[in-house]
Amino acid sequence: MIPVNEPYIGKKEIEYVLDCLKTGWISSTGKYIQEFEEKWAAYCGMKYGIAVSNGTTALETAMACIELNPGDEVIMPTFTIISCALAIIRNRAIPVLVDAEPDTWCMDVTHIEEKITSKTKAIMPVHIYGHPVDMDPIIELARKYNLKIIEDAAEAHGAEYKGRRCGSLGDISCFSFYANKIITTGEGGMLLTNSEEYAEKARSYRNLCFRRDRRFYHTELGSNFRLTNLQAAVGLGQLERIDELIEKKRWIGDIYNKGLKDVPGISLPVEKSWARNVYWMYGIVLDEATEMNASDFANALHKRGVDTRPFFLGMHEQPIFHEMGFFKNDHYPVAERFARQGLYLPSGLTLTEEQIVKTCKAIEDVCRG
Ligand SMILES: Cc1ncc(COP(=O)(O)O)c(C=O)c1O
Repeated sequence: MIPVNEPYIGKKEIEYVLDCLKTGWISSTGKYIQEFEEKWAAYCGMKYGIAVSNGTTALETAMACIELNPGDEVIMPTFTIISCALAIIRNRAIPVLVDAEPDTWCMDVTHIEEKITSKTKAIMPVHIYGHPVDMDPIIELARKYNLKIIEDAAEAHGAEYKGRRCGSLGDISCFSFYANKIITTGEGGMLLTNSEEYAEKARSYRNLCFRRDRRFYHTELGSNFRLTNLQAAVGLGQLERIDELIEKKRWIGDIYNKGLKDVPGISLPVEKSWARNVYWMYGIVLDEATEMNASDFANALHKRGVDTRPFFLGMHEQPIFHEMGFFKNDHYPVAERFARQGLYLPSGLTLTEEQIVKTCKAIEDVCRG
């Protein structure tokens, strides 16, 4: 079975982790945390990095930094992971959804302005599967309506928008370093910002809002979202070869693009003229005319030795949110089609050309019936 993803751990990661173990710096203090924060921030083109326990807690911390009031609204794509909506809801605000774009799969920026109300406080663009969101219109709306931008770049390490790295385009950006991400720490995440005030708030929030002046005296509620030095050691080792990892992702994307371009009944990822796609996960969307849904297609590929994963199910289709009174009569046709017709293919950094070619053949085989 060709797996969807496999971690790709190098010598440096092992060396740095051993160093933590030998020196006893295994918890959330230690040189690797600071170095990983500084180097990741510098790589993305931001001033401050605040490492946290995962991408979900990075988003929750970011939302805490902008101090939402109950009933405030944050505009986000429906086609994303639940972490985005959770971060908003856990901060007592209301997620307001926008459909996806048919080609980039990211939020359709032409539908944002119609969702802005007097309660809107922020926009949360999410770069989907490695392709950047069209950020300029969002930046313009944020200026016009005085909104914050919380950028979710969990899936877009090293991707670029008009020559600028994803993660450098908002007031705060959030990353995940889960095992399937381009850079991994096993579990882990980070916030980046140019604001000293947000950086300070995020550092405090991830560490139970201990006060500097009086440690066990609390004037705010925080959480324990700390990353360990052990995890940061893995991240630093990974970061030292990020160029190689991104080149590998783009190479995988290129081979799939060539191998699948003439296969009938599917659409492939795009790379807009203003974008550098890092093909975090190489997705395909089945045309409705194929009369097959993604689940049947995945089963057919599985029988041929190829593992896949379904695309996101939009937030407006989640039973838990209906139960909570959110999105009850919302419909977003593009995201609904992706949820039923989209899936992603083996995309891990250990993939060989032979495995990609075998995957393309299996897809062609299924598509041509
Ligand atoms: C776009 C996006 N945001 C946030 C997250 C959450 O990250 P984590 O799994 O590290 O909590 C993910 C996870 O895959 C993601 O894809």
